[in-house]
This record gives sequence, C-alpha cells and structure tokens, in this order.
Amino acid sequence: MVETIQWTDAGVVMIDQTRLPREQVFVTCRTYLEVAAGIKDMIIRGAPAIGVAAAMGVARGALDSTDLAAEFPVICDTLAATRPTAVNLFWGIERMRRLYASLAGSPVDEIRAALVREAQLVYAEDIAINKAIGAHGEPLVPAGKTVLTHCNAGALATAGYGTALGVIRAAFAAGKNIDVYADETRPFLQGARLTAWELQQDGIPTTLITDNMAGYFLAKGQIGCVVVGADRIAANGDVANKIGTYSVAVLAKENNVPFYVAAPVSTLDLSLKSGAEIPIEERASVEVTDMFTPGVAPPGIAVRNPAFDVTPNRYVTAIITEKGVARAPYVESLAAMIG
Ligand code: MRU
Repeated sequence: MVETIQWTDAGVVMIDQTRLPREQVFVTCRTYLEVAAGIKDMIIRGAPAIGVAAAMGVARGALDSTDLAAEFPVICDTLAATRPTAVNLFWGIERMRRLYASLAGSPVDEIRAALVREAQLVYAEDIAINKAIGAHGEPLVPAGKTVLTHCNAGALATAGYGTALGVIRAAFAAGKNIDVYADETRPFLQGARLTAWELQQDGIPTTLITDNMAGYFLAKGQIGCVVVGADRIAANGDVANKIGTYSVAVLAKENNVPFYVAAPVSTLDLSLKSGAEIPIEERASVEVTDMFTPGVAPPGIAVRNPAFDVTPNRYVTAIITEKGVARAPYVESLAAMIG
C-alpha cells in the first residue's frame, strides 16, 4: 500500500497528492515551515493525515530549533494556521504541546527525542485505529451491493488503510462481493484522482462517477450504503466533510440508503454543540476555474469555493469509530466514545 507520509532523518516525506495519479513523486519537507506549506498546499490532505503531518512538523521544528523554549509556540502556531476545518490538525498539535509541557525542566535533547517518538507514535496509532474502524464498520456493509463514497478517506487521507476506505477494505477482505462508486469530488477531484487510484491499486472494483450522478444511482437501488469520512464532528453528530457530502446524505435518506460516517475519535470536537460552529475553509477560485480543467470558465467570473459542508445529524445513520458504532442520540453515544 502507498506510503502517505513517513518520518525520516532527512525530513518528513510525503507523496505529493496534487500530482497523483499521473506521477508518484515524493516530497521531503526538511523544515517545519515546509511541512506547514505541504499541508496548506494540499501535498498532504485528509483529516487524520494532516494530524500526523502536524505532529511530525512539530517534532521537525523542535529538532531544528536553536532556542526550543522560544521557538516551540511559534512552530505550533504556524502549523495550526494552515487549514481551519479538520480538527485532527489541532488535535495533533495539542498532543505535542501537552507532551512538551509535561517535560518542562528536562534536558532539551531529551525533550526533542521525546517529541520525535511521540510523532512516530501518532503515525503508528493512526494505522491501528483505521484497522479498528474497518473491523467495526465491516458488518454494516451489505454483500453483493455497491458502496458509494465521496472525496478520499483512504490510505492517502491517513497514515494508512483509511477510514471510509478502511471499512470498504475490511468488507472486501472479508470476502463480500462488493464494488465501489467513487464521486469525482469537484473541484479538487480527490475522488477521481485519489480514491479511484488507490482502490484500483488494491484491485477493489471501482467505478468513477461525477458528483451530480449520485442521486441517479442512489435511486436505482444498487447502492447498499454510503460510507464517507469526516473532518470534524460536533457533539450532536453534525458532520463536516468534503463539499458535496451533504447533498449525498440527503439523497441517501430520500432513497432509504444508510449513510455511514467513518472517523477516528480524534475527529470528534465535543466542545462544539452543533455543526453551525464548525469553521469552513474557503479555498482559492483557481481550483474551480483552472486547476484540473483549465479554461473551464470565463476569466474574471465570480467564484465561491467552500471546501467543506456540514451534514446535519438526522441524515447520519451511524458514526463508525475505533471504539465502536455510535447511533442517535449522538450527544450521548459520542460522549461515550471518548469517556
Ligand atoms: O480537503 P481535503 O482533501 O483535506 O478533505 C478531505 C475530506 O474531506 C475527507 O473526507 C476527510 O478529511 C476524511 S479523511 C479520512
């Protein structure tokens, strides 16, 4: 399986997701500033993956620092300013901040070594968490049917295996004769470029559809369930995920198709009462007008490009985490996941 991100002595190595599937190019981020740029420019993307990248970025910055006490908060704040919606980014940085605080007074080289070990642990734990999500989600996937997914919540969006695609991988490995429909996911095309590519690598039968075809196929009766990832989940079970997820969820409910969200507990933000409080990133207009489909729109046209939307909890059949499957009422079931 593809290595999304790796800690090496030379730096944090990431597969450049802006160049997939045409080229498999690995970028070495030699400084924490390069890690921050890698997150901002979406060389690495996907909520758990940017949590891992942020933890590694903090460790890299600590190793390179000349005055760790003065530089540590700057390193953390710089990484935290890269993308606003996925809470895993802040979770990863907070974990490093907590460890740093607990080591106050220790020799600097010991602190640096502990931060590096912690970042590697965040990475290793993420893969184990995704396998547990897969194991909990697998029984929910009906055999002999198609699974619809949106965006990329796969190995490329995590340290490995994936959340939504982890559930699909587990169902496929269990011998269920399933196939996958992947929404292309305009405008950044994570579905077409990343999900289609990584599932094809694994030999999981996959069909690419454009986003506006989801309703057509949901109405036909072949889709057994929808499984997507999440960037942040509020206490009431409202789910922020890639733009277009909300439309798919409404269409799934209209057609009585279960809509599952697969995410680690680190994606829960129980400090927020509802999805209305989740900050939504708005990205550059060039992603809509020229990035992968150059010249598709007239120059100068007004563009909006919100990168995420919020699916109200009433459309969410269940939330699959590494701790188990949460169902409504989510205020109670999600609180129990972190309790
Ligand atoms: O803008 P992106 O590509 O970082 O958005 C990714 C998504 O919305 C994913 O579905 C989400 O992060 C879950 S990844 C396991």
